[in-house]
Amino acid sequence: MISKNYHTTHLFRPTDLMAELINRQYSLLQIVSRFGMSLGVGEKSVSEVCREHNVDCSTFLAVINYVGNGCRQDFIPEPETISLPSLLKYLRESHTYFLEYSLPSIRRKLIGTVNYSSSNEFPLLILKYYDSFFEEVRAHLDYENKTVFPHVDALLTHHPSSFTIDAFDTEHDETADGKLNELKNIIIRYYSAPSVSNYALNDVLSDIFICNEELNAHGLVEENLFLPAVKLLEERASEENESIPCCEEGISDASLLSPREKEIVIGVVKGLTNKEIADKLYISLNTVLTHRRNIARKLEIHSPAGLTIYAIVNGLVKIEELE
Ligand SMILES: [Fe+2]
Ligand SMILES: [Fe+2]
Repeated sequence: MISKNYHTTHLFRPTDLMAELINRQYSLLQIVSRFGMSLGVGEKSVSEVCREHNVDCSTFLAVINYVGNGCRQDFIPEPETISLPSLLKYLRESHTYFLEYSLPSIRRKLIGTVNYSSSNEFPLLILKYYDSFFEEVRAHLDYENKTVFPHVDALLTHHPSSFTIDAFDTEHDETADGKLNELKNIIIRYYSAPSVSNYALNDVLSDIFICNEELNAHGLVEENLFLPAVKLLEERASEENESIPCCEEGISDASLLSPREKEIVIGVVKGLTNKEIADKLYISLNTVLTHRRNIARKLEIHSPAGLTIYAIVNGLVKIEELE
């Protein structure tokens, strides 16, 4: 369950000021940090800060708007709009945040509530319970760090990988979250320790609430943004492995362009470089060049200006989409 803090329907845009985004919804600040962005954003817009930190702006906003609107179904973006290198950077940093900052910080605060001179063993039992939860989370995140994310790295760099994301899809459950929920409720209902400051107890409890929400949101980003984008990448990689058909000399029928060739034409007429097209479609530069040679031969059009006319006439782009 995501807190009321997230329940404001609002869509942030690339032109919004980053400072306004943080001011409007401070709970999003951790997401900003996990994308590698630091404070001191001045009067810069979201897109400027993204560019500065080499983060794909549409991926950043996809996560911000999805989590910021309570991870609602209608805020799940199209997988094509997700840049996996940027999302991976975010997910890896989120794991570091949970394992090295958020969870140890809660543990330190829980230890602070233990009064060793008292015979009451309840706080120690709570600590033990927390430790077993921590280990479950660590095992979950380690599996993703060591198995799932390297698989995506391999796909992005066109290396073979024996893993498939379906294995992750079926195994990805968030049982550890249930444990944190339980711990929260045990503390609320049964933790009464007169020797411990209520403020200290409230402090650790509110950290547990926040951590629970962040872990839930993290799991949902993986299931609804990361997973579909990786599935798409796997499909494209298997397409890549099929040989790229080379057309015969003399064929000039434009309808022979494959969907992938049409995507490349669109990239060219929108002014993208071959490298940018390769990155956008998750294919190698060489593959783009091969497609471009095939396109030129099929259409008998060799210049970007010629391709622009072809793309407009054949409805691949609208004139107003071109700068
Ligand atoms: Fe994760
Ligand atoms: Fe996960």
